[in-house]
Amino acid sequence: MMHIYLLSLGLLFALIEHSIMQDCSDGYKKQRGKCVDEDECEQELICGENSNCYNTVGSYYCQCHTGFIPEGTKPTVNFTRADGIQCKDFNECLNTSINCGPNAECVNNEGGYACICRTGYTPNNGKQTFFVGQGVQCDDLKGALQEGCTNHTAKVCLENLLEQTENIKDEELSLDTVTSLLSMVLDAAVNIHMSSSSANPNELTSYGNRVLINNEELMSTLVKQTDTSANVSFTLADVEGRVFMVGPHVTLDEIPRLHTRNCSIDIDLIGIANNNNGTRSAAVIFLGYNTMENLLKADFFNATNDTVNTMMSSVISVTLPKTTNTALSKPVNFTFRHIREFDPSGSFSCVYWNISKWIVDGCSVLNTNRSFTVCSCVHLSTFALIMQTRSHPPESDSLLNVLNVVCVIVGLLFFSLALLTFTRCQWSPGVNNVARINICISLLLAHLLFLLTQQFLSLIRRQKVRMKKKPFSSAETLKSV
Ligand SMILES: *[C@@H]1O[C@H](CO)[C@@H](O)[C@H](O)[C@H]1NC(C)=O
Ligand SMILES: *[C@@H]1O[C@H](CO)[C@@H](O)[C@H](O)[C@H]1NC(C)=O
Ligand SMILES: *[C@@H]1O[C@H](CO)[C@@H](O)[C@H](O)[C@H]1NC(C)=O
Ligand SMILES: *[C@@H]1O[C@H](CO)[C@@H](O)[C@H](O)[C@H]1NC(C)=O
Ligand SMILES: *[C@@H]1O[C@H](CO)[C@@H](O)[C@H](O)[C@H]1NC(C)=O
Ligand SMILES: *[C@@H]1O[C@H](CO)[C@@H](O)[C@H](O)[C@H]1NC(C)=O
Ligand SMILES: *[C@@H]1O[C@H](CO)[C@@H](O)[C@H](O)[C@H]1NC(C)=O
Ligand SMILES: *[C@@H]1O[C@H](CO)[C@@H](O)[C@H](O)[C@H]1NC(C)=O
Ligand SMILES: *[C@@H]1O[C@H](CO)[C@@H](O)[C@H](O)[C@H]1NC(C)=O
Ligand SMILES: *[C@@H]1O[C@H](CO)[C@@H](O)[C@H](O)[C@H]1NC(C)=O
Ligand SMILES: *[C@@H]1O[C@H](CO)[C@@H](O)[C@H](O)[C@H]1NC(C)=O
Repeated sequence: MMHIYLLSLGLLFALIEHSIMQDCSDGYKKQRGKCVDEDECEQELICGENSNCYNTVGSYYCQCHTGFIPEGTKPTVNFTRADGIQCKDFNECLNTSINCGPNAECVNNEGGYACICRTGYTPNNGKQTFFVGQGVQCDDLKGALQEGCTNHTAKVCLENLLEQTENIKDEELSLDTVTSLLSMVLDAAVNIHMSSSSANPNELTSYGNRVLINNEELMSTLVKQTDTSANVSFTLADVEGRVFMVGPHVTLDEIPRLHTRNCSIDIDLIGIANNNNGTRSAAVIFLGYNTMENLLKADFFNATNDTVNTMMSSVISVTLPKTTNTALSKPVNFTFRHIREFDPSGSFSCVYWNISKWIVDGCSVLNTNRSFTVCSCVHLSTFALIMQTRSHPPESDSLLNVLNVVCVIVGLLFFSLALLTFTRCQWSPGVNNVARINICISLLLAHLLFLLTQQFLSLIRRQKVRMKKKPFSSAETLKSV
């Protein structure tokens, strides 16, 4: 009996519970016997992608994220799943009121946009991208760099330039931008040399190295993938550049000789490309500098006191950018045009630049004549041709010599007059003039000796130091007598 009673009670509760649940309308759920608001937004993706879900009492609504617009048969700002609306990316760049400003481009992306400066220009906030209304401008990189040079010393200017250009190595620059940057860097480098003729060698070589690396990186922005072959070339006052690229389907057996005004090179680029199993492509950069010898001086080669080093060629730089296996299949050959007078007694060295000095390792002179020298090297780097000759007095000596001779002659004249006076005249009978006369004679002779050695100096150059000292020592010994 008791069992039946309990069972009916349970049945009753179940019935009540069922009826209450049925009473809850859409958007509500039963909780502990009461109808409470149901949070529809807890259901995953109830609104679809790129949208926000907002729960309301008894319902919910969806809104697209900013940068997305509702798309469907009846698009509305507020929608629910039943409306069948999807949020699609909206191309903000088509909105004409979004203007990134001069020299910039608008780039659409998922849910937004970004303003990006065109190649060759940099945003003045220093960031990669910006938005309209942030007051960011795209400055002409060249203009900005040039401006940075007007108010500063050559050193600060070059530092600025190198710092800026070291950051742009991954971009693809136009030929115009590359050439402007190259000539600005080289101009600044020349100014460094001019502003401090006695600059210390470490400073010169350190700037030289940075300029070389910087220029190679600038040049490598001109290298592009090619299927057959392609080339880029330019000629500026300070530097000439050649880029030659070959791809996997190149039809040439060997690439043509690359020429600049004062040097040409033969390099087996096809062989190098064939050694690159993966890409079967390779590129060579050839730069011929007219002013680089101001930084990478010929004196940085085997400096000895009794030889004079003369740079006989322009400094050239040959590198293989974006090429994995840079091993040379054949030695690379350079034909240098002599840029200074050829001295048959000089010895010629084909040299390459190694961090702080010119060295010969791996380079050799193949043949040389009055106007050309052919060098062969088994590796790539920065090269030049240096002539070593025995040292002779600098040219300014000739003027000094003439001045010396004139002075000594005037001196001689006055000593003769003094001697004449001392021998002819006597002021007081008590004073003997002999000592004065002796001193006059010895000084006269000393001057005469000096004059004679000066005249014969050019004939007996090697004894120069010893001969020059003689007159003074003899004058002193005579004086002390
Ligand atoms: C969307 O819904 C919210 C909340 O109910 C409301 O404030 C807003 O005005 C609605 N927007 C439109 C365009 O109906
Ligand atoms: C265009 O952009 C402006 C500024 O962001 C905005 O006020 C305007 O609503 C946009 N126009 C359209 C058609 O999206
Ligand atoms: C350079 O100096 C001039 C005047 O001396 C000044 O107007 C200009 O703003 C300066 N430029 C820079 C980049 O400092
Ligand atoms: C370099 O490229 C130009 C076209 O850009 C072509 O006319 C010329 O023949 C090429 N030179 C060499 C040496 O391949
Ligand atoms: C450079 O000259 C050497 C010796 O004449 C020769 O063996 C080599 O093949 C030449 N290299 C190129 C790239 O022509
Ligand atoms: C390229 O392939 C050749 C044979 O096809 C092989 O001898 C050589 O080692 C490979 N070189 C590289 C760098 O993989
Ligand atoms: C390169 O040659 C040109 C003329 O052929 C000459 O004017 C120039 O001075 C040379 N370069 C150097 C570094 O002397
Ligand atoms: C440097 O000069 C010395 C003497 O002048 C010579 O013996 C030596 O071979 C030279 N070294 C190089 C690398 O040319
Ligand atoms: C060059 O001469 C200076 C002194 O005149 C001397 O100290 C130096 O050691 C010499 N250098 C060489 C490489 O002979
Ligand atoms: C530069 O010279 C040093 C020693 O003088 C040598 O170890 C190094 O390999 C050289 N670097 C190049 C790139 O030849
Ligand atoms: C000098 O050598 C160059 C390169 O080897 C050659 O082209 C030129 O004809 C030579 N000149 C003379 C006068 O032998």
